[in-house]
Parts: sequence; C-alpha cells; structure tokens
Amino acid sequence: MVDYDAIASSLANRIVASDVRELLKLTEGRKIISFAGGLPDPSLFPKEDLAEIARQVISERGERVLQYSPTPGVGEFRRELAGYLERVGVAVREGDEILVSTGSQEALFLLGMAFVDPGDTVLVEEPGYLAAINLFRMLGARMVPVKVDSEGLNTDDLRKKLEALDKEGVKPKLIYTNPTCNNPNGTTMTMSRRRELLDIAGEYDVMIVEDDPYSYFTFEEVEFQHLKTMDKEGRVVYLGTMSKILVPGLRIGWALGPAKAIRRMELVKQIVDLHSSTLSQYIAMEAIRRGIVDRVVAKAKSLYKRKRDEMLAAMDENMADLGEWTRPIGGFFIFFKANAKLDFKAMLPEAVERGVAYVPGQAFYIEGDGRSTMRLSYSEPKPEEIRKGIELLAGIIREKTG
Ligand SMILES: Cc1ncc(COP(=O)(O)O)c(C=O)c1O
Repeated sequence: MVDYDAIASSLANRIVASDVRELLKLTEGRKIISFAGGLPDPSLFPKEDLAEIARQVISERGERVLQYSPTPGVGEFRRELAGYLERVGVAVREGDEILVSTGSQEALFLLGMAFVDPGDTVLVEEPGYLAAINLFRMLGARMVPVKVDSEGLNTDDLRKKLEALDKEGVKPKLIYTNPTCNNPNGTTMTMSRRRELLDIAGEYDVMIVEDDPYSYFTFEEVEFQHLKTMDKEGRVVYLGTMSKILVPGLRIGWALGPAKAIRRMELVKQIVDLHSSTLSQYIAMEAIRRGIVDRVVAKAKSLYKRKRDEMLAAMDENMADLGEWTRPIGGFFIFFKANAKLDFKAMLPEAVERGVAYVPGQAFYIEGDGRSTMRLSYSEPKPEEIRKGIELLAGIIREKTG
C-alpha cells in the first residue's frame, strides 16, 4: 500500500484529530443525556412544509432547481436572503455582496483560505469556537487569544494584544468573534464593547469576522446591533446560516460583506465545490418567502428558552457551591467553570458511564487551558432530561471536589 502518512501534505499534518470527539464516541449506541452535541432540537424541523416545497420546486421548476448554478449562489435566493437579513437587522450596504455557502462553516473555510497564509497572525476569542480554532491551526496561522468575559470579547485585552503585536511589527489579518450568544460561552457582547471593538479594529486596520448563527432567536429583550450593521468602514465580513433557523441538513449558510472580500472567497469556492446545492437554495428561498423560517424562529425562541430556564434552575439548585456559569440570552450554550481544580476531560468517560455527556472546555482553548471548564448545551435534550442530567453531573463534580 502507498505510505499515505509519508505523502500527507503539511496542511493535512497540521490537523489534529480531536480527542474530545474520540471520547464522545463512547456515547454512541447508549441511552445517555447529552449536553455535548449542540444540535438543534429536531422537533422544530418543518418536515411537511419542506417536503411540500421540495416536491413543488422540483416538479414545477426542475430544469433550474436540479441544474448547476452560479458560484455566489442562485440570484433569486440571494435577493430574498438580502431582504431577510435587512428585516432582522443585518445591514446590507451598497457595495456589499452575498456569497451562499455550504453551511457557514464553509464560508469560514473560504475566508481562511482567501486571507490567511501560514505564519499570519489572527486574533481569536478564548474560549472560542472550536472549528474556527481548528481551521486557523490547519492554515498554519499564529493564533493570539483574546479573553472573553460576561460582556463578551474583552476589548481591553484586545487592545493589549494589538499593541504588543504592533511593537513586534506584526499586522494581524483578522479578528474572529461570535459576539451574540457565543459558542461556547453563551455570552453576548455589550453595545459599548461592540463600539470599542470597531474603533480598535479601525485604529489597527484589521478585518473583523462576525460569526452569527444564534442571534436570530434570542429569548431576552437585549438591545444589540450586529457588528456588520454598525460597521461604516467595510471592515466586517458577516457569516450566517440556515442551520439553526430552519434546518442544518440543507447546508445553507452565507457570507455578507464588501464585494472585494466576498469575491476573494468566491474564487476559492469555485475550486472547492463550484456552488452550494441549487435545490437547497430553492428550498431555503421558499421557506423564507412562505414565512416558514419566521415560524421556526418563533417556536425556537420559546422552546430553547424553556430548556435554558430548566438548565439554569437545575444548576442553581444543584451546583451553586461548585462553580460559576454564564446565563445566555439565546443560543445553545452555558459555560461552567468549577471552583475546584478539576479535569473535565479526564472525568468524561466516568460521566458517560453514569449517563451524561458534555464537552470538556479545554477543547475551546488554543493551548490546552480551561481544564476546570465544560460546555453544556441545552438545545437537544428534552426538558425533563435536563434536570436529571444536571443532577448526575453535580453528583460527579461534588465527589471529585472532595
Ligand atoms: C459559532 C458557530 N459558527 C459556525 C457554525 C457552523 O454552522 P453551519 O456550518 O451549520 O452553518 C456553528 C455551528 O454550530 C457555530 O456554533
């Protein structure tokens, strides 16, 4: 056999297999309460509506819907999407373009490929979105962590990091942030921090990547604007997705930003997959037009609020003396930090054995910090399972705390 390890590219060799994923394989085939996944609740999937749309668009417009389509996306869908984004408060400015991607994950990949060379510096939230960290690692970037606290990305820390880089003569390529209902933190950046972030990025002339899968279904009345909407300088590339407001299985996401940035990403996409699924784009377009996305969002708000409330109440009752945690206004995640020095990665097999899973927080740190933290997702389990799972977890943490 060919020695595939010997001929693997240096890019491929920079991908480290996730040991957390290996650990979570332990959950396969078991009846377990999983706070690990972060998947949408499938009871929200509008199955019948989507089946009806699929049948209709294929039978009535099959010649187009089943055909290849332009790399940036189906024109009709991009216009519909622009209207939707404007309606939910994401500004589409003159000179902006939209690129439809295969999930927002692909948009992030295209952006990385288009703008980040090995050795380039990027600033990322820490703890931060695992797949973004993995992408920048694969690209051979130097990742500089920026702290995240209860007000979101810490702009004092950002300024400090940028000052230090400036002294080194390094100009970073971008700042990656998930400012609203952060994965894994559950925090939402305050308006004053958002303004500061834009000011600082302006001073140092750095691109901001606003990754935003969760802002569409916040369940508290918190005033915020998207960085994209506040940006007057063409500094923000905004990434969004249908995954949480319709279904992830269509794999439809998008990048919105200045035409020059988007065009760079489009050129990479031509090589990666030519275009995202034409059929998926037509289905997503009709789902917006027929108000199905609005209905899913309305249901998601009340369902996830109920689950979040259940998890927070169970944590308040069972974990008050064991650690501290975030109180999200939307999204899927609560981040827990134990008072005691614990190792949540080492504890995971035992937790799974006892019937509950989570993601060890270490996975979200660049250099393996965050041992005493874990990410809990309330999105998937049933409300009645949430309490049981938290009780199990509290029991394990209490034993280990000694
Ligand atoms: C912060 C963040 N960005 C991007 C994604 C990718 O979503 P998708 O590729 O399904 O659009 C996720 C998914 O969970 C996420 O949490």
